[in-house]
Amino acid sequence: MTAIDQAHNIEALRHLARKRLPRMVFDYIDGGADDEITLGRNDRRYADYELNFRSLVDVSRIELETTVMGAPCRAPIIVSPTAAQRLFNPRAGEAAVARAAKAKGLVYCLSTLASTTIEDIAQHTDGPKWFQVYVWKDRALVEQAMERARTAGFTGLILTVDVPVAGNRERDHLNAFTIPPKISTRTVAQVLARPGYLWDMASSPPIQAANWADMDTGGMGIIQFLDSQFDRTVTWADAKWMKEAWGGPFAVKGIARPDDARRCLDIGADAVWVSNHGGRQLDTAPATIDTLGDIVAAVAGQAEVILDGGIRRGTDIIKALALGATAVAVGRPYLFGLGAGGQPGVERALDILITALARDMALVGAARPRDLSPDFVRQPR
Ligand SMILES: Cc1cc2nc3c(=O)[nH]c(=O)nc-3n(C[C@H](O)[C@H](O)[C@H](O)COP(=O)(O)O)c2cc1C
Repeated sequence: MTAIDQAHNIEALRHLARKRLPRMVFDYIDGGADDEITLGRNDRRYADYELNFRSLVDVSRIELETTVMGAPCRAPIIVSPTAAQRLFNPRAGEAAVARAAKAKGLVYCLSTLASTTIEDIAQHTDGPKWFQVYVWKDRALVEQAMERARTAGFTGLILTVDVPVAGNRERDHLNAFTIPPKISTRTVAQVLARPGYLWDMASSPPIQAANWADMDTGGMGIIQFLDSQFDRTVTWADAKWMKEAWGGPFAVKGIARPDDARRCLDIGADAVWVSNHGGRQLDTAPATIDTLGDIVAAVAGQAEVILDGGIRRGTDIIKALALGATAVAVGRPYLFGLGAGGQPGVERALDILITALARDMALVGAARPRDLSPDFVRQPR
């Protein structure tokens, strides 16, 4: 039995990832903005919601299958977009995560800042996949990316709206972390302490924003160029333009308020994605689970609702579903698996969540997600 097989929860995968990755890379996954208040809240607040279980319900067959934005899912769990996955496993990266998602029957979301191209991902999985974008100053860049994603068989587009500028991730400053990682006097000891990672990185292609590698950056480094492309003037009119230009299933990711959720409906979004970027952007924003009920009420069934942030247990998923989410999304859980051991590590992370959800559905007394309702949850006063 490998250490991956013996990992029985997400925290165990986190420990394994910490042992395999240089400190600066682990911190880039694990950390959040400023004092990491929101990061901690996202995790902890689930504990304050109590599960009001129902007894003597026939739970001999738990059915988790569902569809989200038209995509079939074996369980209501989405593999959230995360940047540069080859950082966490230089040989495997996005390809491993996409294959694992396909193996487990879940939707894979490719980040705009991925270290593998849109076309390569399509070679690795014919499973359901969505592409995540930001609105950049150069709209032609965004249009080209949308066209490539459409041609490659991505069915959904996710517009992330909580990054008008990058958040202040202080662990990254302390580690002088860059993408690709540079070895400096401050980090040389961290990297030498992880020779396996160093070898993998040295013996595989450079880690870069693969979808933009051929871009004319006017002499700037690619990451610096993309940073300069974040457009602070973006508004709902641009989001509407994007929804229309895409023409297919469209979600807005990074919603924290009911009035913004209504605006998502106004522009015709198919899903409202409740997220604070895993506590990596604005610190002291509320835990996502605390904002969910009001957002679901504002959406009033006119769109699907996806929630991410701090999902680590089956019971966390049940609470989100009971309060009205169509599905949850996860970031760090599978990144810890990827760092701990490539595709088997990602599959382990997804299995842990799916198995826990099935078990906890039986315990709570609901055979299908649609059998859950807010009365299963006692909300904190
Ligand atoms: C290392 C890392 C990189 C991320 N990169 C992106 C990204 O490129 N685009 C995006 O929309 N969200 C990104 N996110 C946010 C995730 O999609 C998701 O909202 C968040 O991780 C959910 O919280 P969780 O990690 O507690 O599950 C990133 C998160 C992490 C941890």
